[in-house]
Amino acid sequence: MNSRELRNLYIDFFVGHDHKHIPSSSLIPENDPSVLFTTAGMHPLVPYLLGEKHPLGKRLVNFQKSLRTGDIDEVGDASHLTFFEMMGNWSLGDYFKRESIAMSHEFLTSALGIPQEKISVTVFSGDESAPRDEESAGIWRSLGYPDSRIYYYGKKENWWGPAGLTGPCGPDTEIFFDTGKEKCSADCGPSCTCGKHVEIWNNVFMEYVKDADGNYSKMPVSNVDTGLGLERVLAIMNGVPSVFDTELFMPIIEKIEAVTGVKYSEKTFRQYRVIADHLRAATFVLGDDKAVSPSNVDQGYVVRRLIRRAYRYLTQMNAPALTMSAIAEVIINNYSDVYPELGRNSEFVIRQFNQEEEIFSRTLEQGLKIATKYLDKVGPDKKMNAEDAFRLYDTFGFPLEFTQELAEENGIVVDVAGFRELFAAHQEKSRAGAAQKFKGGLADSSEETTKLHTATHLLHAALRKVLGESVNQRGSNINAERLRFDFSFDRKVTPEELAEAEKIVNSAISAGVDVVCEEMTVKEAKAKDAIGLFADKYDEVVKVYTMGGHSIEICGGPHVSNTRELGSFKIRQEGSSSAGVRRIKATVGG
Ligand code: SER
Repeated sequence: MNSRELRNLYIDFFVGHDHKHIPSSSLIPENDPSVLFTTAGMHPLVPYLLGEKHPLGKRLVNFQKSLRTGDIDEVGDASHLTFFEMMGNWSLGDYFKRESIAMSHEFLTSALGIPQEKISVTVFSGDESAPRDEESAGIWRSLGYPDSRIYYYGKKENWWGPAGLTGPCGPDTEIFFDTGKEKCSADCGPSCTCGKHVEIWNNVFMEYVKDADGNYSKMPVSNVDTGLGLERVLAIMNGVPSVFDTELFMPIIEKIEAVTGVKYSEKTFRQYRVIADHLRAATFVLGDDKAVSPSNVDQGYVVRRLIRRAYRYLTQMNAPALTMSAIAEVIINNYSDVYPELGRNSEFVIRQFNQEEEIFSRTLEQGLKIATKYLDKVGPDKKMNAEDAFRLYDTFGFPLEFTQELAEENGIVVDVAGFRELFAAHQEKSRAGAAQKFKGGLADSSEETTKLHTATHLLHAALRKVLGESVNQRGSNINAERLRFDFSFDRKVTPEELAEAEKIVNSAISAGVDVVCEEMTVKEAKAKDAIGLFADKYDEVVKVYTMGGHSIEICGGPHVSNTRELGSFKIRQEGSSSAGVRRIKATVGG
């Protein structure tokens, strides 16, 4: 079975159970300052999980590009990845535990034909915020799972979410595949990391919402959010020992073998897998329509770290110059039929890899020499001091993990806490930014963020009026204090132009127009000249928000009901975000 067949089988199965297929969203969350990346299929659906009506109904299914850096140290084993595809199905206040578990069971055992005795499950054992989940255990039992394969665990294992600091969450039931390996000990079970059990599916029963004070309260409706790991299931279906032995990775591995002449073997597994994983993740971030470039902040910094780590491993294998972009091409070719944005943005991706290589190759060698010096002078406490680690970052562009890895290879640990202090002091500005970033979340559909969201639409439309139609949204980030809007434009916006845009937004506010939400197909929205990222599927139904003649845009909401609620609008800052992209920060109030 190949990945295309698996995606189709999953979608068809759930469409057959009355779900609507929704497209994969961007890897860069929209209007959600609480996380850097889309970490799961539920992420773009947070407003709907919190009660917004979804235009396609109460049962949804998709496969979603996802990225998590939490497991980065595990990359190299058989199943962990940073970037992965998550197949998911959702019930927005429709079915709950019984149907969800029954469908998962049917998909795995009937549609995929996985023998039921290879499957173990876990359920929530209960605590002060929610009771023991006997209901789910009972459903598994009724489907023929013996008690010996139903495990109870606490919050750490069997509670999911919120994705940021606040938002929807709940107890979950997780489904594991038994690889057939020997138990590593008498109490080896699904929570053991020895590799006998591989987690494949997580069904979250989202009955709760966590607030900023850490309290859990029941949501008015109960939702289901599930996520099934595509790469892991693909490895199982093909009887291969790891996700890296599937057709999603083999072309990358073959390319690395071809350019380096180093064999992919037990001795080189780890390096190979890290390179393949990191370059695939970086290719997907760079190839996203949001056009992130490597940098020292936010998403750009994650990409930079992924690329630099892969680059170092490649140089250890004596890979020739520009190998990374050659590998990126292989990845783009392997995926662009499913993710057409990779093809659309391929030139940008290749250029970014080559530029980053050029920058880093200039300092890597010298930095490695200095790092060796620093490591040599480490005392018997085997600790590298924070100043040295910071100098490697500041002068040679070595990300902290990178230095930590070098140190570890020599049995040395880095003073991480000290490094972070220096880093924070050095980046006073971005520290302020980071603190703010964790204040809200899209989960925070507060009055303030909703106003700023509406103001973002008006600003977008005003900029197009003043600067022309080449202005397109490249990113939006809102917290309780301000909006931040990134858009394509290739020069500085003059003070006069900014004043003009501000005036247009303020006159839309004082006109007091109603904000009207309608549902229509992408094609109809386009015919009305609505702006917004157009999905590739033209018959898909979307929400369109119209504010009189001032703005018409495709968007999930929420928004205020009348523009007058914004009071007034002020542009606070304009600057460059990256090549060809400008950034405006603005506030509303009064
Ligand atoms: N949100 C859950 C997870 O990420 C299910 O998709 O595991």
